[in-house]
Amino acid sequence: MNRLYLLGLIACFTSHAALAWTSPALLDNKQAFIADLMTQMTLEEKVGQLRLISIGADMPRPRILEEIAAGNIGGSFNTVTRRDNRPMQDAAVQNSRLKIPLFFAYDVIHGHRTIFPISLALASSWDLQAIALSGRIAAIEASADGLDMTFAPMLDITRDPRWGRTSEGFGEDPYLVSQIARSMVKALQGATPSAADSVMASVKHFALYGAVEGGRDYNVVDMSPMRMYQDYLPPYHAAVDAGAGGLMVALNTINGVPATANTWLMQDLLRRDWGFSGVTISDHGAISELVSHGIARDGREAAKLAIKAGIDMSMADSLYRQELPALVRSGEVKVQEIDNAVREVLGAKYDLGLFHDPYRRIGIAAEDPAEVNAESRLHRAEARAVARQSMVLLKNRQQTLPLKKTGSIALIGPLADSPIDMMGSWSAAGVAAQSVTLRQGLNAALGDQARVIYALGANVTDDQHIIDYLNFLKEDKPVVVLDPRPPAELIAEALQAAEQADVIVAAVGEARGMSHESSSRTRLDIPPSQQALLRALKKTGKPLVLVLMNGRPLALNWEQANADAILETWFSGTEGGHAIADVLFGDYNPSGKLPITFPRTVGQIPTYYNHLRLGRPFVEGHPGNYTSQYFEEPNGPLYPFGYGLSYTDFDLSELQLSSRSLARDGSLEVSLTLKNTGARDGATIVQLYIRDMAASVVRPVKELKRFRKVTLKAGEQTRVSFSIDEDDLKFFNAQLQHVAEPGEFEVQIGLDSQAVQTQRFELL
Ligand code: NOJ
Repeated sequence: MNRLYLLGLIACFTSHAALAWTSPALLDNKQAFIADLMTQMTLEEKVGQLRLISIGADMPRPRILEEIAAGNIGGSFNTVTRRDNRPMQDAAVQNSRLKIPLFFAYDVIHGHRTIFPISLALASSWDLQAIALSGRIAAIEASADGLDMTFAPMLDITRDPRWGRTSEGFGEDPYLVSQIARSMVKALQGATPSAADSVMASVKHFALYGAVEGGRDYNVVDMSPMRMYQDYLPPYHAAVDAGAGGLMVALNTINGVPATANTWLMQDLLRRDWGFSGVTISDHGAISELVSHGIARDGREAAKLAIKAGIDMSMADSLYRQELPALVRSGEVKVQEIDNAVREVLGAKYDLGLFHDPYRRIGIAAEDPAEVNAESRLHRAEARAVARQSMVLLKNRQQTLPLKKTGSIALIGPLADSPIDMMGSWSAAGVAAQSVTLRQGLNAALGDQARVIYALGANVTDDQHIIDYLNFLKEDKPVVVLDPRPPAELIAEALQAAEQADVIVAAVGEARGMSHESSSRTRLDIPPSQQALLRALKKTGKPLVLVLMNGRPLALNWEQANADAILETWFSGTEGGHAIADVLFGDYNPSGKLPITFPRTVGQIPTYYNHLRLGRPFVEGHPGNYTSQYFEEPNGPLYPFGYGLSYTDFDLSELQLSSRSLARDGSLEVSLTLKNTGARDGATIVQLYIRDMAASVVRPVKELKRFRKVTLKAGEQTRVSFSIDEDDLKFFNAQLQHVAEPGEFEVQIGLDSQAVQTQRFELL
């Protein structure tokens, strides 16, 4: 910290402290400080703290400053620079009666200015250190922009890829997502959320939002308690245990009661059973939506239900402010209920260090960067390293990949040179113009060594209805930009490019807006305009490499049968083009594995790997009816959970158990030798699954319990061992007790969830 900044801080702090909290001596004792502050607050000031506003066009700035000075606002979101936030903090700590600082939040989901791969891609790395690095850098950049809190990580287990928000989550597996939850919360919050380079993690969407029926956004969730506890709740619980300071409440109903009015969820489970002590925030407008849900007659009842359920802050609706004071005066809401919420809001501000220094992250004007966007250049190398680890090689016929850096490459497709799509949805303060497209990445990697012949080939879609939907509300500029030429002309141009080249690289998939909030799909295929392009390219007979960009599993039957190589790159962020080029040319050997199953067709959904066992399971290779299957096409996924290829080959020796029995207080070693038998250095993910052979309730066919990323030089081998104990065998029984029942278990180990070897042991 330089001297000028330090002096500025001292000046800020002393001038505000003199005016502010009447008992600065209490500042070192959180509970006492907050209790003392609350004794000074009027009911209106308390209710003001519960209001989180979205800064948008609907409320002019002068009005916002007046409202802040009047003590009617507790925090805000949707502004992203210190310069933007400082006047609001000034209004709070200089002009409001009690000088309570605001906090500033934002959706920093996968990077802030330097955009990292989307969350689903991060999960594909199975690399907790890489994921944590992305979170740490996001926190450093966001806090440097004057932000205190992010609405992340999004921990909704997703088993239905039709859901557009699949891209925002970390996939379908409770264990993997829980591990990521812990790493992300710790990375965002750093050593302590009060640090100047930390942001508070407000995890979302509590709870079960990923299970909306039919994958249609904002739809209902209806789920057995056993499934909730076993599969959907663990990631949120892990985040709470990791110390997440905030939690955003889901928009959906849970078994008939909206989360926003759900006392069981918010109080019994979250506060009582899990001991959550942070702040809870409704999702956007969710309190007023209680009226649309038909659970509240009017706004007054909605506010009452939400505060009683335990929703501390209302996001972007004014119902708390309008209704709570009168509800308290009439006795329908107790002051105690308001106080409980206020205590958590003030507690979050305390934990963020804002009472010690309201300008901790905003700094002083003299220190503001001249060019805010320049910051995105700081962390590019890390973004590139993480992006290449997040890519999954789905097919590689006769080593089509890696490509040689000689000859000529036809680069074709609507996503080959689209900077905005590289960033994916929720790209925070990322600047599209700064993201590296695949075209730029290939050119930079090749220099003069080889020629890249580029053609658009197709628009991302030709469906005007879809285009209008995706461009809706993006007043500044359209998200999907179209080439007005007829499709046949675009394809003809692409074929010309292909004819001149040794190999075709086709960048196809979804526009980023297709995998986003409110972007649910009924189909999972690559849009028809691009399919027509691919079919035409196939006819050239040239090697066809698909570079996929998409935010959800796609149905890729034709592509799997016809492409020579397929690389899943998701939306890979600011450095995406460089990272993809690294993988295509073999400067990085792909190591990613799918964190979610890829179905063959949309009709198969759900296809998650850890489904419950059946009385009449379908068995591959044993056709016949009266088993659980679809009869029109092959059963099973196209690419299973945990799947991903490499440019080298790995071999696993026979797996060994240290014992055939496991005592309750003991542990069991599961080990084998992993060998890189190919000609290149590379990394892979060794995965350990467990199957409970018989239990008091039906258990999944397998569940991921351990994984390890191992890097080996060509020809090298290493011993990989995992230790498992009773806790790994526990599940929620019919009484929702977390138990491990005695009996036989199967350990399965492999490099994906299907190709596994097994051994059995007994829990005593
Ligand atoms: C609504 C979304 O559901 C939520 O994820 C997001 O954090 C808020 N809007 C704020 O932007």
